[in-house]
Amino acid sequence: MEIFILKTAEEASRIAGRFVNEAIKKNPKTVLGLATGSTPLMLYKEMYTACQAGLDYSQVRSFNLDEYYGLDPQHPQSYRRFMNENLFNHLNIDINNTRVPDGLAKDCAAACAQYEADMKAAGGVDIQVLGIGSDGHIGFNEPGSSLVSRTRLVTLTPQTIRDNARFFEKEEDVPRYAVSMGVGTVMEAKTCLMLCFGANKAKAVKGMIEGGISQFNPASALQMHPHTLVFLDEAAAADLELKDYYRWASEHPATL
Ligand code: PGA
Repeated sequence: MEIFILKTAEEASRIAGRFVNEAIKKNPKTVLGLATGSTPLMLYKEMYTACQAGLDYSQVRSFNLDEYYGLDPQHPQSYRRFMNENLFNHLNIDINNTRVPDGLAKDCAAACAQYEADMKAAGGVDIQVLGIGSDGHIGFNEPGSSLVSRTRLVTLTPQTIRDNARFFEKEEDVPRYAVSMGVGTVMEAKTCLMLCFGANKAKAVKGMIEGGISQFNPASALQMHPHTLVFLDEAAAADLELKDYYRWASEHPATL
């Protein structure tokens, strides 16, 4: 893991955005893995601002991490709708090349297997955008998820249901299940870009970076990933024991 601690989430998102945009400039056929939630919103703005300034996203393909099970794509809280509104509608991407797991699939296991096969056929994910849940989840891989799990139907934890209730009228409206790429699926991305902002992520961030690798904190699997860049603001980095070293190392990178 390469860890970057920035003063603000804005600054971190700008640097992460530059990384994604540069990659697309180099390879217009980049395959992105994308995430929902409040964390990547500023990163997405960096991406569509660059696109509107001339960066070509027309050949980019994408696969989203997860979708609530039982929500129609048109539902205001579906992740398909979130992605269209917060990113895809502002890019010149071909919407048919943007994939979000099917939250209405009748044969969910078959749809999940197909999703994995389609990712593989696309050549795999080049850059996977990730956020972390306050319980250490990535995608909807809650604590207890196998670190070799694949795309599948999962049960949300009461904490995630509570965390996400702010987007729904009432907590009872939050779906109890979701379709999520597995931890093993995420681990196959060539590069992971993990963004974590705010004090409520500090404990999960500490577990991800400095805890043991454990399905208790699914994000900790990234310690074994060959190329993960972690962008933190000061609040999310607050509990890290080695934060002075991470800062020092990012200011003095070991590249010649
Ligand atoms: P957030 O969610 O970006 O809204 O904090 C992240 C997550 O739960 O994965």
